[in-house]
Amino acid sequence: MMINDFKLEVFFGEHEFTAPYLLAQSDCESMTVKELLEYEPGAEVGLINSWLGYTEVPGSPELRETISKLYRTIEAGDIIVHSGAQEPIFNFANMLLSKGDHVICQFPIYQSLYEVANAIGCNVSRWEIRQADNGWAVDFEELERLIKPSTKLICLNSPNNPTGYTLTEEEIKRIADIAQKHNLYVFCDEVYKGVELDGISRPWFADVYEKGVSLGVMSKAYGLAGLRIGWVATKDKEIQSKLIKMKHYTSICSSSTSEFLANVALKHSNTILERNRKIILKNLNAADTFFSKYPQIFKNNKPVAGPIAFHKMNIDIPIDQFCNQMIKEKGILLLPATVFDYKGQYFRMGYGRSKFIDNLKIFEEYLLEKII
Ligand SMILES: Cc1ncc(COP(=O)(O)O)c(C=O)c1O
Repeated sequence: MMINDFKLEVFFGEHEFTAPYLLAQSDCESMTVKELLEYEPGAEVGLINSWLGYTEVPGSPELRETISKLYRTIEAGDIIVHSGAQEPIFNFANMLLSKGDHVICQFPIYQSLYEVANAIGCNVSRWEIRQADNGWAVDFEELERLIKPSTKLICLNSPNNPTGYTLTEEEIKRIADIAQKHNLYVFCDEVYKGVELDGISRPWFADVYEKGVSLGVMSKAYGLAGLRIGWVATKDKEIQSKLIKMKHYTSICSSSTSEFLANVALKHSNTILERNRKIILKNLNAADTFFSKYPQIFKNNKPVAGPIAFHKMNIDIPIDQFCNQMIKEKGILLLPATVFDYKGQYFRMGYGRSKFIDNLKIFEEYLLEKII
């Protein structure tokens, strides 16, 4: 397969483990294995005695049962555990799509959500998330206009990376109605779900639409990326069976140790999510104060849910040049819009990490020295 470079991952590959002042990360603050085990009495002994053999291809029955409790209508049998979220994105596209199929994908978005389809030879149309006066907006009539006879799939990411745009329950149902009318599949990447800053809990896409596929993961809202545990939820039996057969070719099964630890974390889902929501809200508060000092430079697009936001910076230097220069000179990492192939002076900021406020101060010093 010929596939274009994954710009965001190439950029992070260069800088994520060397830049000391991270301000763009999309995951919430992580924890040690010891800290995670402390949530559940007896879990440490359970881990030491856990079996290091293969697990079931769709995931251990215990973990699938625990994951299913996050949903309104999904059952344990509708969950297929994978290695992180990237594996199911790759497998789903390869399992469903063929050359010439038409795919509608939200844009901007995490690159693999359209790039795998692109590499298969699909025609991909962008359904744009646009800057509005107050945050971001989408146009549902535009979505309907993009549908063609060859359209097979609508691909979404809510809360969206990078904009933070989050579909409301009404919007999720509206898209499900449109998809049903045209007999389309919907793949909704919901890896940022769980840290709703407006306090409103929305359904997963798989809860509202039979041909809807929801993607979840431990990496983002839970801050447990090192587990490499993600999952797909869908009521569509044919998709379930084909995804399992794809997984035979990619990882066969996930790590049994990771499945055990993911199960511990998800049993304490509300406590961990609340810990992370508090970190995000505190950081967002500090960022509000920071942005309000420089209204001539920044457009503060506050997220509705999730740990990331896409802000605008009105400076004369192109944003990618500015970000690269800043990493080189001061080791401060922001993610430029160019890694999303997005035009405009935007950058992604991540609010889930506990060092955010200290790092923001370093960024402010740099701005005062170089720009303001
Ligand atoms: C929207 C989205 N989907 C999927 C992934 C991949 O997640 P994971 O690293 O858990 O495979 C990411 C990672 O940044 C993401 O932002």
